[in-house]
Amino acid sequence: MKGLVLSGGRGTRLRPLTHTIAKQLVPVANRPIIHYVLEQLAHAGLEEVGIVISPETGTAVRAALEDGSQWGLRLTFIVQAEPLGLAHAVKTARPFLGDDPFTMYLGDNLLGMRLTEVLARFRTEGSDALVLLKRVPNPQQFGVAVLDEAGVLQRLVEKPAEFISDLALVGIYVFGPAIHGAIDRIRPSWRGELEITDALEELLRAGGKVTSSILEGWWLDTGKKDDILEANTVVLDELTTRDIRGSVDAASRVVGRVRLEEGATVERSTIRGPAVVGRGTQVSDAFIGPHTSIGDGCRIERTTVQHAVILPGAVIVGIERLEDSLIGKRALVVADGQAPRALRLLVGDDAEVRT
Ligand code: G1P
Repeated sequence: MKGLVLSGGRGTRLRPLTHTIAKQLVPVANRPIIHYVLEQLAHAGLEEVGIVISPETGTAVRAALEDGSQWGLRLTFIVQAEPLGLAHAVKTARPFLGDDPFTMYLGDNLLGMRLTEVLARFRTEGSDALVLLKRVPNPQQFGVAVLDEAGVLQRLVEKPAEFISDLALVGIYVFGPAIHGAIDRIRPSWRGELEITDALEELLRAGGKVTSSILEGWWLDTGKKDDILEANTVVLDELTTRDIRGSVDAASRVVGRVRLEEGATVERSTIRGPAVVGRGTQVSDAFIGPHTSIGDGCRIERTTVQHAVILPGAVIVGIERLEDSLIGKRALVVADGQAPRALRLLVGDDAEVRT
């Protein structure tokens, strides 16, 4: 079984941040989302993983993953010249995939369960494809599956305008080699993409065995700001353990599950977990509330911040309340005069916000 991680795309729903960073590299609990993906695949016993990258962000993705040895994986980077759809990405990766079965994982998806059982099912059922499904309140934003009363998959439709099912296709699929023939037989969709959903539908039509598994745990598709914040909340809740390596002065309190990295300093401040504060970050006269991730080398001064993701090098000074926010690398957010009580921001890298 090989792995195929899709890490191209333009990330339009996360602009302006994605003008300068691949969406798969946005950090959640101070680690790029794609790191969690590779950890999942390694945990499921995979060894060889292809990473589909775009010409625009490919170099940054390579730099963030290096050779994959930290997960015990062998990585092959595959450039998809244009974002022409998930099925097009598979087509591009065909020389790497050969006729091996593979798990395809969208590099911006996070899953609250392990894949071991799903892969075991795929093998014992002898499926041509296995899709993961999750009930969602907004099915029109996803590919969806229609099952009959016996739970057998009948139809798959990408972004249905009218309600036909609330079972969304999670961005994780297991395929056998028959998917390639199906991809060769489909045409681009109305959005100009070769849709994997259409290829699956074609596989079904041609008599292929497509099975499904309904997820009970959480699944997050981190395409938008609020999704990133939710992912950050969930991951901090589940993974953070108390680990204080930085320095905390006598006038400060660090409460609960907080990871304070080496070289971080906390003065006259309170940090209430779950939260992570990166290396060398200076926190002074501040309150850092739950579900906040602050990257390396930031400065947080005279500010209350909670439920936020702050990327490395950002400086935030004098904000009475900053919440539900995503702040880019080296961005500057400063209150010069009378700041509004609460700010909710999505700020790109190197931007400056003065209130
Ligand atoms: C893609 C798939 C869709 C799936 C979704 C999951 O959508 O086409 O079927 O439900 O990922 O994240 P896209 O992100 O390309 O809009």
